[in-house]
Amino acid sequence: MTIIAPSILSADFSRLADEIRKVEEAGADWLHIDVMDGCFVPNLTFGAPVVKKLRPVTPLFFDCHLMVEQPEKYIDAFQKAGADLLCVHAEATKHLHRCLQQIKEAGMKAAAALNPATPLAAVEEVLPILDMVLLMTVDPGFGGQAFIGEGVDKIRRLRALLDERGMQVPIEVDGGITAETAPLVKEAGAEILVAGSYIYGAQDAAAAIAALRG
Ligand code: DX5
Ligand code: ZN
Repeated sequence: MTIIAPSILSADFSRLADEIRKVEEAGADWLHIDVMDGCFVPNLTFGAPVVKKLRPVTPLFFDCHLMVEQPEKYIDAFQKAGADLLCVHAEATKHLHRCLQQIKEAGMKAAAALNPATPLAAVEEVLPILDMVLLMTVDPGFGGQAFIGEGVDKIRRLRALLDERGMQVPIEVDGGITAETAPLVKEAGAEILVAGSYIYGAQDAAAAIAALRG
């Protein structure tokens, strides 16, 4: 069963509540919330105060993707804002294990993300405490970028590693997911698909979500 997580990065920010209800009604499973600091990535979005305002809008699971340096500084704020899951980049914190522990202690699910150039070894030692691994199939920072095909083999290798260890950690994929690329990443072992421009750019969001689910 594939989980579809529309990314509000591609939504109309002047009408965020409506845009969230739109994907909820279209059958979204989760809501993917891209937080950018202009430092870890060359773009800025929003932080915990906006997430807090969005919380009463929808019962959807809030999958918060923190593309920020030193994400440990914001764990408390996102917990108070109503985040369900915090995903931090392995490249953005000096103490990934501590950061993940703190997220779990705060009562949220803890995930680690890897940029396309970062090897799987960066999360190998923390797999036992992870609730999800996010493999980026674009360099983070912007919506609408082209899918990096090498990511498919990386998903396959992570899935094999998890199977070998008897672990059930779900793999999320983010970047360039469309009806063409979704079957490739699902076949390789991804269970959670993030899509921004494909869903928000579609005439019919329900049809787009159904196409990704396959
Ligand atoms: C990119 C973000 C993505 C983005 C994906 O840095 O992490 O979540 O919204 O956008 P698409 O689906 O358009 O590639
Ligand atoms: Zn994202």
